[in-house]
Amino acid sequence: MKKKLKMKKQARKRLIILILIIIISIAGVKLINDYSYRQTYEYKLLQINYSLDEIKIIEKELNGEQINTLLNKKYNPNLTKIISNKYFIYDNLDRYFNYINENKDINLNKVVSLVNVNRDRDFYKEPIKTNYKDEKLMLVNKYYYLDKDYEPENIITTSGTYSYANNSLNEETYNAYQELYDAAKIDGYTILIVSSYRNYDYQEEIWTSRKKLYGTRKADEYAARAGHSEHQTGYAVDVADFNDVNDKFGDTKSYIWMKENAHKYGFILRYPKDKEDITGYSYEPWHYRYVGKEIASKIYNENITFDEYYAYYLDK
Ligand code: DAL
Ligand code: ZN
Repeated sequence: MKKKLKMKKQARKRLIILILIIIISIAGVKLINDYSYRQTYEYKLLQINYSLDEIKIIEKELNGEQINTLLNKKYNPNLTKIISNKYFIYDNLDRYFNYINENKDINLNKVVSLVNVNRDRDFYKEPIKTNYKDEKLMLVNKYYYLDKDYEPENIITTSGTYSYANNSLNEETYNAYQELYDAAKIDGYTILIVSSYRNYDYQEEIWTSRKKLYGTRKADEYAARAGHSEHQTGYAVDVADFNDVNDKFGDTKSYIWMKENAHKYGFILRYPKDKEDITGYSYEPWHYRYVGKEIASKIYNENITFDEYYAYYLDK
């Protein structure tokens, strides 16, 4: 009888120990889980007020190092819209936010475009020397310049069939232009080169004469300052319709043809309408830049400017 009681007691003891082990294990697992969750970006981002929807976007668009940097900043309601933009560049993040602060009510997609092409900085102030390595893709604008003595190689004189007198052009660009010219001709349009390669001194003359006539602000709208013109690269052409007595290329059918077809031959409309704030120039229906067929088609299909292409695809 005594033995039976003792056995019962022992069984009860074992049961209590078992229950205790189970309780401790559950508590332990919970503690470990809680600890692990606190180490996640989700938990940390929630602590600085990002919502679960925003966190999903942050985790998709940013890498761990970038999220860690973000954790040291305050919550920003514009963040997810900015980082979801196709052309978002992480290194520009603070500049996007500064631009938004200084330009209230601005469209956030526009902010990405503008900051990517440096529009948060003043034109011609602290300009950057362009990268000469790949001439065909050199960016020359109000922020990037060519040296005064920069003279491209492979510049050849154009024939009267394709251009007005005194024109010369990069050889590859000229070959591509001839292809374009012939295709336009088959469709019934005669599109001639009016201006092409211009050296530094010639560009200086152009800009200075514009300035004398119209003042600096107006001159800057249509003419590049010396060292800042694409014409100095040898890869740019200004064109005209042979039959256009009004000298208004933008009003001709040839222009519509160019707009729809130039990219197939490697040329892009460099200063499009409604992109003036990005390019820094008024609309120039006559100015085309050669970048090669593949890139020209990409720029055309994405409806971006060369400045945006350069920032996102080449410089990033
Ligand atoms: N008209 C263009 C902007 C130039 O002068 O290069
Ligand atoms: Zn031009």
